[in-house]
Amino acid sequence: MPESSIEEIQEIVSDPNRLVRAIFSGRRRNMQPIYEKIELRPVKLHDKLLLQMITVQESKSRTTNLDFEAFNCLEMLESGFANCLVESVDLTLTIRFTKKGGPLIHRSERKLLQSTSHDRQKNRLLDPDSDFLRQIGISDRNGLIKPSMRDKYLQIEEFLRILMPTLRDEIATGRLQKPTQDEPLNVFDHGCGNAYLTFAVHYFLNEQEIPNKIIGIDQRDESRQRNTKIASDLGLNDSIVFRAEKIAELGAENVDLAIALHACDTATDDAIAWSVENHAQILLVSPCCHHDLQSQLVKISEPWSIITKNGILKERLGDILTDSLRAQILKLHGYRTDIIEFIGDEHTPRNLLIRAVFTKSTSEADEKAKYQELLNIWSVRPRLAELLNFS
Ligand SMILES: C[S@@+](CC[C@H](N)C(=O)[O-])C[C@H]1O[C@@H](n2cnc3c(N)ncnc32)[C@H](O)[C@@H]1O
Repeated sequence: MPESSIEEIQEIVSDPNRLVRAIFSGRRRNMQPIYEKIELRPVKLHDKLLLQMITVQESKSRTTNLDFEAFNCLEMLESGFANCLVESVDLTLTIRFTKKGGPLIHRSERKLLQSTSHDRQKNRLLDPDSDFLRQIGISDRNGLIKPSMRDKYLQIEEFLRILMPTLRDEIATGRLQKPTQDEPLNVFDHGCGNAYLTFAVHYFLNEQEIPNKIIGIDQRDESRQRNTKIASDLGLNDSIVFRAEKIAELGAENVDLAIALHACDTATDDAIAWSVENHAQILLVSPCCHHDLQSQLVKISEPWSIITKNGILKERLGDILTDSLRAQILKLHGYRTDIIEFIGDEHTPRNLLIRAVFTKSTSEADEKAKYQELLNIWSVRPRLAELLNFS
């Protein structure tokens, strides 16, 4: 990795007047960094600026405050972190180590504000007072989030927090062409319902100067009518279109980014299958209820009945199997896939997000064998496999 980049990162992290935040995360192949994640930011304590370090290990976080010179970026990178994001007031640097171990470095000259308060509120991405949040019914007429919509508001914000770095990464690697006014990012929101996420993604991408066209799909015509009226009131009819269609009945389309937030049951599979068939570059899908595999979990081989004799555990096992198989099928179709918790479960019990980017990489042979073995153990056939005609 170029020394100049490490020096630059170290310079920012050591400068109390420049650092906004830095995050070290992920694990490089065959390496084991000492923490799962480290987040750094400046914090003012008793009129002195210190470097706050939050480390995460086995889902537990620990906060320590250090002098700025005390943190050694090179040492941390060499310990095996796969990703590093450093934001300063004038420059954002990201480093991602590829599977082969080479660093991909991306720089962008973005202006950011420092926040050094000790009990800092999380930076809001969407201003509650914005017109579109009022129109879609998340904020009230005074520009305050309605208590009943707070969880949805937080869900869409956290969704955006994951979308942005994923999108920037794909643009930086060249796997996704930088969107322009003439060739905007083509986005599909599957099972868009009241289109909270649809409008939020459109607004936020525009704010980040990423031209985009977004199509919201929902089988209910009332959704289409309601959402189209809002888009028209906001003057957005050219860039947001709502269609009343079943996802499974969609034809071939140009899609760069496919999103779905809680599309019911196998509608999530329809959304994934359609996205794979249309070579969507990025998929961000937060599944909802899982009935398909649950109902197939009939022939239980031993000793698994120890788990499945408890209804609730059988249900959770069904959820885990469904999403694991979805991720594995995506992987076997050339998508780098992971499953993350995108928001705390106090805001929704459906808080997993399948994130997949189309790298076209071929999987090792035993990945297919492992997939098939899992199907055999449980005698199941996931809906996604049916849809993609994948055995
Ligand atoms: C739980 S709501 C989620 C709505 C929205 N994404 C949100 O998070 O607020 C699920 C939506 O998916 C739609 N839906 C379910 N199955 C569908 C399908 N097969 N095709 C299109 N829309 C579907 C429903 O009509 C409903 O509006």
